[in-house]
Amino acid sequence: MGSELVVALRNINLDIYRGEICCVFGASGSGKSTLLNMLAGMDPPSKGEVYIDGVRINSLGENELAAFRQKNIGFVFQSYNLMPTLTALENVALPLMFCGSDKRARESAAASVLRAVGLGNRMKHYPSQMSGGQQQRTGIARAFVAKPKIIFADEPTGNLDSKTAKEIMRMMVGFTRKYNETLVLVTHNPELAKYADRIITLLDGEIVSDEHAENTIKEEINI
Ligand SMILES: Nc1ncnc2c1ncn2[C@@H]1O[C@H](COP(=O)(O)OP(=O)(O)O)[C@@H](O)[C@H]1O
Ligand SMILES: [Mg+2]
Repeated sequence: MGSELVVALRNINLDIYRGEICCVFGASGSGKSTLLNMLAGMDPPSKGEVYIDGVRINSLGENELAAFRQKNIGFVFQSYNLMPTLTALENVALPLMFCGSDKRARESAAASVLRAVGLGNRMKHYPSQMSGGQQQRTGIARAFVAKPKIIFADEPTGNLDSKTAKEIMRMMVGFTRKYNETLVLVTHNPELAKYADRIITLLDGEIVSDEHAENTIKEEINI
């Protein structure tokens, strides 16, 4: 920031395993978003490297990185980040644009994920015509539609009431387990952290604890 140097992360050395559901905890300003953005290839680290499935994502060029993210990474945002001029169906079909399938196949795949998140009757709705919870369900459908290897979610339930937050969490966990994917999410809510296998706590940009959860909720979630 101007002449002031902000160190957002330091000494981060972390392996995340396939199929894991990891929760990143920490106070505001502790570096959670910076960490997620670097892991997802959205921000380059000034030092250090990130590997996903053996690929050093920091050595990829801009186009290669974009293609890698399309294929391997899903992201769920706190403020949904849906395209306002596209319907729910079109938003969810968007990540499939780059997979080479035709429009009908893309829309049929998108419709099937939207039905799985309970939005079968909202496909033609625009984001402004949906509640926060419905918009985030659309965001989840978009993140999972291309079956990415790893999904990052930065406070995905931060703008939602507690009942909706739990529904959203159960959906993300259900998809992650069903497709044996990997989920890394930031949440402040201890009730939601109970669904994680592992809890990583940051303080001032450093990992201060990294623990396997003892009582992870392992209920069957049908998606
Ligand atoms: N664009 C930026 N420019 C300068 N400093 C930033 C920027 N974004 C975040 N920071 C600083 O980096 C640190 C980590 O921020 P962030 O990763 O957003 O934390 P969290 O998501 O845990 O709230 C904070 O000290 C924050 O003020
Ligand atoms: Mg943040």
